[in-house]
Amino acid sequence: MAPDPRLIELFSYYRDAELHGARLLLRLTKLMQDDPDAQIKLSLHVAEETQHAWLWTKRITELGGKPVAIGDGYQSRIGLRTVPRKLVDLLALTVVVEERSLARYQEHAARPDVDPETKKILKEVTKDEKWHIAWIKGKLDELAAQGNQTERAAEMMERYRQIDQEVYTEMRAKEAEAFGYAN
Ligand SMILES: [Fe+2]
Ligand SMILES: [Fe+2]
Repeated sequence: MAPDPRLIELFSYYRDAELHGARLLLRLTKLMQDDPDAQIKLSLHVAEETQHAWLWTKRITELGGKPVAIGDGYQSRIGLRTVPRKLVDLLALTVVVEERSLARYQEHAARPDVDPETKKILKEVTKDEKWHIAWIKGKLDELAAQGNQTERAAEMMERYRQIDQEVYTEMRAKEAEAFGYAN
């Protein structure tokens, strides 16, 4: 039986978001070269995001599909609205992106029609996303306090949360249309 193309596309979106997440972390790795504590955590963090991308890729192939190219994924849509340049901005954006990813995976896992294999992946990635948020948020607070940028950090968080909300609303509408459920 041919795999449901909507599911292959959905998992390709997840895969795309994980790969973009890894790319954001690699930018942070470069910007935080003088922070050995951050280097250690970023190394594990990148390893986990790429592992998440692999888990979705593997699920796609198990279903008999192939990953599809995603041109309008979550981070691409964010990128059309804002380009963070400062370290504090990048950290704030990372927190917001990680929070979205956690919320999305939890929401998906709570659906009544999730097959056991997909549920297993959702459980595994959810566990990782929790510590991702915690350490990046801690680092953001630490650096903001050191550099007198607490206000800017709060402002950027608010701005990115707004952008995230807009982007996620667009994506939910698109998904609801594809799957034919009420948004
Ligand atoms: Fe992830
Ligand atoms: Fe993550």
